[in-house]
Amino acid sequence: MSNYHIKHLEEYYQVYRKSIREPENFWEEVAEEHFVWRKKWDKVMSWDFSKPEIKWFEGAKLNITENCIDRHLATRGDKTAIIFEPNNPDEEAQHISYRQLYHKVNKFANVLKDHGIKKGDRVCIYVPMIPELAISLLACAKIGAIHSVVFAGFSSRALSSRINDCDCKMVITSDGSFRGTKSIDLKGIVDEALENCDGVETVLVVNRTGGDVVMTEGRDKWLQPLLDAASDELEAEVMDAEDPLFILYTSGSTGQPKGMVHTTAGYMVYTAYTFKNVFQYREDDVYWCTADIGWITGHSYIVYGPLANGATTVMFEGVPHYPDFGRFWQIVEKHKVNQFYTAPTAIRALAKQGAELVEKYDLSSIKVLGSVGEPINEEAWHWYNDVVGKKKSPIVDTWWQTETGGIMITPIPFVTPTKPTYATLPFIGIQPALMDENGLEQKGNQVEGRLCIKFPWPSIARTIWGNHQRYKDTYFSAYENMYFTGDGALRDEVGYYRITGRVDDVIIVSGHNLGTAPIEDAINEHPAVSESAIVGFPHDIKGSALYGFVTLKEVGESRVHDNLRKEINQLISDRIGPIAKLDKIQFTEGLPKTRSGKIMRRILRKIAENDTSNLGDISTLLNPEVVQDIMDNSL
Ligand code: WT7
Repeated sequence: MSNYHIKHLEEYYQVYRKSIREPENFWEEVAEEHFVWRKKWDKVMSWDFSKPEIKWFEGAKLNITENCIDRHLATRGDKTAIIFEPNNPDEEAQHISYRQLYHKVNKFANVLKDHGIKKGDRVCIYVPMIPELAISLLACAKIGAIHSVVFAGFSSRALSSRINDCDCKMVITSDGSFRGTKSIDLKGIVDEALENCDGVETVLVVNRTGGDVVMTEGRDKWLQPLLDAASDELEAEVMDAEDPLFILYTSGSTGQPKGMVHTTAGYMVYTAYTFKNVFQYREDDVYWCTADIGWITGHSYIVYGPLANGATTVMFEGVPHYPDFGRFWQIVEKHKVNQFYTAPTAIRALAKQGAELVEKYDLSSIKVLGSVGEPINEEAWHWYNDVVGKKKSPIVDTWWQTETGGIMITPIPFVTPTKPTYATLPFIGIQPALMDENGLEQKGNQVEGRLCIKFPWPSIARTIWGNHQRYKDTYFSAYENMYFTGDGALRDEVGYYRITGRVDDVIIVSGHNLGTAPIEDAINEHPAVSESAIVGFPHDIKGSALYGFVTLKEVGESRVHDNLRKEINQLISDRIGPIAKLDKIQFTEGLPKTRSGKIMRRILRKIAENDTSNLGDISTLLNPEVVQDIMDNSL
């Protein structure tokens, strides 16, 4: 028997040791006992981090939707798979059973097929948090099409570059989306994006808001009539273990976003196994992750992980502050949520509103609280623990990444004693290493370094779409035979990990991973701008916010500067999305540079953080004189 469900600390250590000593036996048992396969694997795993090439369950045949839906029909056909909670609290929630989900996915998959989508084709999904979003992922998976979900808050430029990067043939979208009091014209954004995307043949449009849309003849089709006419039965495509399941874009420290490719079997096994243990999910529990399916958190822990376990998963369309800041707690009470998983930025925003809005609602159903996306600060951790969890529901601070597919470092609730701001222990099968700048592993406890992983796990991304070299350069070149995460971490006296933050030019704003390069590119498009540099600085709610240092071609008056700030943020909004807007923009006469012309972000970061006592040696700069000027005028 594999240890599918870990129940106490000794068992964790025992299973952990086994997963490290005999990874193949360990994962083979999990895969064998808890999933359905059309054909079992020939080899559990093979890996070579120097190529890099990683394979899990090679030779196996399966379809992930048979694991997430079909196999539950016999015992859980009437169980609710998805609870949909609409933006407007007066609109009725929907409960979609596993049987209904099965038929809905089949219908949708038949529509995809009827429009020429076949195994291996890429389908872009730009849909808000409505049931059709989850269903469209599963419909793609059913027929072996590769989904590429783009968060429906990204701009038309960001959308078109992602559509073109992986040559999507189809876009699935909706007329619009509801977010609090606002409704957003998504179809209009898609239309704009598609002016630059020749490869898209079909656009399927979900009717959600009833807003005005322009339908392009021959290309755009309303989804509902097609679903009504489609058969609700369909044989699943048989996939190889290593066939791509999806592409999901994430920012890098340089260049365009990276299309991370996740494959089928390993991703399924790891997300399901982590879901079961990290949330201690039991059969009748209601689980709610507040993320958007547009991010990896939603892929792995709203859709695939929960459904593979036959769980009931909540999808919330709205925002935490509508109609008021009590909405999350009202939903917890209404659906008797047992596991609640959110981001530190949301916790901080809600904590700011005080305890009354929490205490208004009955949260006694909550058993486990989760946190993800960025380091959780001490204050937010205690508020979450005390006010929301009433000191009885363990917090799982889960560290992972788009690239890792699933949770990597985390407590197991009721098993691992928690410690504020610590993600605690590696999950089963995960072998972290802390490296110093010279490439030496820092062994033992009470050490700090750059966080790497020494051995593959089943859900590691296999490549970057269309750019394997970049995959190698980004993740496997910093340290030999290691996956480099881009994060710094420390290990305390008992071996617990604390993630200290990014060590590269990625900034996590409200839990969203933003690369500085594309933002700088957007700013530099402004005709008045000569160059720019973005750094992060601490922010009460967002964790980090963006500070832009911008030099202008001609130094203007301050009155003009206010307009320029607006224009620059508008450009960023258009090119990337509102989430990448700058909180502070300082116009400077120059940017500090090394003699080789590289911008010294370290200095700018210190100025933005208001920590200028220790700037280090600036005398070797090409232009040390600009530093004082930037400090004098800092915002
Ligand atoms: C980066 C990955 C994992 C899904 C959401 C974000 C940061 C993530 C934590 C945590 C400290 C965290 C890291 C990581 N991060 N979780 N619990 N504690 N930092 O996925 O957009 O790929 O971002 O988010 O810096 O590298 P992502």
